[in-house]
Amino acid sequence: DYLAEPLRPQVHFSPEIHWMNDPNGLVFHQGEYHLFYQYNPAGNTWGHMSWGHAVSPDLVHWEHLPLAIPEEDGVMIFSGCCVVDHDNTAGLGTKDDPAMVAVYTGHGHGKQVQNLAYSTDRGRTWTKYAGNPVLDINSSAFRDPKVFWHAPSQEWKMVVSLADEKVLVFYGSSDLLQWNELSRFGPAGVVSKSNWECPDLFELPVENGSEETLWVLEADMGSGAIAGGSGGEYFVGKYDGVRFSPIQDSQWVDHGRDFYAPVSWSDLPEEDGRRIWIGWFNNWETCLVPTFPWRSCMSIPRELSLRRIPTAADASQSAVVLVQRPVRELEALRQGGEQIDTSAIGWPPQSVTTQGQIAELSFDLEMTLEPGESRSCGVRIRTGEGEFIEVGYDREPGVVYVDRTHSGNVDFHPGFAGRHAAPTRLQDGTVTLRVVVDRSTIEVFINDGEAVISDRVFPTSQQAVLEVFGGGPTAKISKMQLWPLKSIWM
Ligand code: FRU
Repeated sequence: DYLAEPLRPQVHFSPEIHWMNDPNGLVFHQGEYHLFYQYNPAGNTWGHMSWGHAVSPDLVHWEHLPLAIPEEDGVMIFSGCCVVDHDNTAGLGTKDDPAMVAVYTGHGHGKQVQNLAYSTDRGRTWTKYAGNPVLDINSSAFRDPKVFWHAPSQEWKMVVSLADEKVLVFYGSSDLLQWNELSRFGPAGVVSKSNWECPDLFELPVENGSEETLWVLEADMGSGAIAGGSGGEYFVGKYDGVRFSPIQDSQWVDHGRDFYAPVSWSDLPEEDGRRIWIGWFNNWETCLVPTFPWRSCMSIPRELSLRRIPTAADASQSAVVLVQRPVRELEALRQGGEQIDTSAIGWPPQSVTTQGQIAELSFDLEMTLEPGESRSCGVRIRTGEGEFIEVGYDREPGVVYVDRTHSGNVDFHPGFAGRHAAPTRLQDGTVTLRVVVDRSTIEVFINDGEAVISDRVFPTSQQAVLEVFGGGPTAKISKMQLWPLKSIWM
């Protein structure tokens, strides 16, 4: 009974039992969103990597399906992607009934190679391609292929990582079987003590009403990220089907500690026009989280776009940033909706009454902070005596932060407790936050998705009380609206 498990997220995907890491093979096919994931079918630590599987009609309600692609003959099934081969270029299905083709890294016998598996029954059963590997460069750190169809050049493209060199390699193919190297990118971005895994490359619109689009190249480092441990960086740039050219320095994907290896869905309905990704809601450094018998969950799927904003250092300069928002489907889980009176704001933090049940600790909160002349303001989600998660704006040095130092069980790893901050601009003296809390997760979307902070938390009690605080008389929270979220497991 998922509802009775105090740390089991109610609106985020988690495996029923055992260990999960990266999302894999995200693809939409015949009305279903597929989510595959790195999975250990034999235990709740990393090992025996295979692809677990779930499907959803709407990106929020998930149905667990049997293991899709198992480890076999000493070859683990590492991360990768899935495409629908509509034109049957690989000859593994038919044009009328196209195959789903998974492109993944086979890890074993001292090497990492790129392999295929395919399904002609809506992903229910999978066959490993007899001609595997389709790409072998005799490397022990060559992994995580992401493939997409590039219409202008009428070719499949792959981006895959030479992980230890922090180099991404781009390939082209007409049939998914034979791959030709086109170009390389890197080392670049945050180069000290970090590698690259799980790349993705896609085109996005710039939110200014024009037709402008740019490309985003994302990759993840196992350590050395902004909040400590693992995390992702992205480049905004141009892509001509052969080469990616960045137009600015890399930026952090998420300013929290727990958003890793995000990848985007393939084959989303064109009329919908969305680009959506999901990330592993965890950090390699602190991944042995205190939940049992399952370990880890995914983020809320996020819709992506780009926005040109003034840079923090010099407002006369602008930068293009990745914008991430929870998919609109999450709003269907909102129940009731309550405007909260925040006039009690002050120091020490003052509790505010909420009629809606936040005791279940799954809720969606929108608020507008107006720090005025004061140092800080924000909200504490108090889950017990001396136990709270703090989310606020701090004028010095101009950040929104999540502080999980007192959030409950923080002792399971020395790197877990702490405060994670994102540089944030005030617009007309205000900053807007959307805060999604789900028992053992918190995601804070700042200024309509310009920056995000994602953190796991492990409260010891669910008796949550909201408190508001302001570090001075001019601090205000001009809007605070709360919606309890309905469990997807009911
Ligand atoms: C990233 C990663 C990938 C690899 C997978 C193995 O988290 O290390 O590079 O394919 O996990 O589980």
